[in-house]
Amino acid sequence: MLDAINHIRDEINAFEVSTSEQLEKFRLIFLSKKGKISSLFEAFKSVSSENKKEIGRHLNSLKIEAIDKYESLKMNLSLISGPFSSDDLTKPSFPFSSGTRHPVSIIRREINDIFSRIGFTVSEGPEIEDDWHVFTGLNFPFNHPARDMQDTFFISLNPDVLLRTHTSSVQVRVMEKQKPPIRNIFPGRVFRNEAISARAHCIFHQVEGLYVDHNVSFADLKQTLLFFAKEMFGESTQIRLRPSFFPFTEPSAELDVSCSICKGKGCNVCKYTGFLEILGCGMVDPNVLDASGIDSNEYTGFAFGMGIERIAMLKYQVNDLRLYFENDIRFLHQFTNS
Ligand code: DAH
Repeated sequence: MLDAINHIRDEINAFEVSTSEQLEKFRLIFLSKKGKISSLFEAFKSVSSENKKEIGRHLNSLKIEAIDKYESLKMNLSLISGPFSSDDLTKPSFPFSSGTRHPVSIIRREINDIFSRIGFTVSEGPEIEDDWHVFTGLNFPFNHPARDMQDTFFISLNPDVLLRTHTSSVQVRVMEKQKPPIRNIFPGRVFRNEAISARAHCIFHQVEGLYVDHNVSFADLKQTLLFFAKEMFGESTQIRLRPSFFPFTEPSAELDVSCSICKGKGCNVCKYTGFLEILGCGMVDPNVLDASGIDSNEYTGFAFGMGIERIAMLKYQVNDLRLYFENDIRFLHQFTNS
């Protein structure tokens, strides 16, 4: 048996290839199920037990040598004839490892996808905004704390030029231009003057949703969000709505989903409540419809807004917001879906 092993080793060492057909031949002769090494393993079964250890060692190392040889033949072949061939000097000289999508992009695309399945279309608005679209058109009273210098980045001496603090501003822009029915979502980047920590960042991403038509009801809002929650977090997900307040919706609510980690039983992620808050929502305040030129006697609507990083944190259980902005490829390479 040792002679047979040595003989095959010599054959492997002597094997050279210059085409992919020859490479495949190497694989078939030595490494396939019916190849020479497999038949040695077959014969190995009848080796006497006192010789098994010694021969087994040789046989295993032969197999490893054959695989190594195959890989190096393959590599040489691709250098000669593959995409990195030296006859095209504009080609990269070594293979680039391909990148992965950023987790925020993965989640944004997933959210867009889920809502597009129920008829929502995606639109976008500007990041640099004016007071009307971010605050006044959304029914924020003049003395509302969110307008405070603490929260809003003003980027010129003119107080009417600012970075949007939420994507709700796109609601106003769309309602000013489009007549109902409106069924849109608005993903985008938002800015707040916050100290950076594990839980807060001065830049993050939101997706806003808006549906305005005849007879849109709170029940429609609830079913839409239930559909979203199940698609995003799994069919068994439950939702609950808690009363809340936003200047631009009346009534307003916050949506919680049952914790997908403990299935609602209680764990440290959901702080033993069984639920996790994911978004704010409500019926569009009639003042907001009227301010954008939509007759609130004729139309009603619902709106919702969620943080993309928040959904990503819950889905991936990565609880430090800063990781999403540092672009450390060791972190980013862990997200390889779609
Ligand atoms: N704009 C809110 C925020 O940034 C989120 C929000 C709450 C959006 C309720 C909505 C809504 O459309 O109806 O916190």
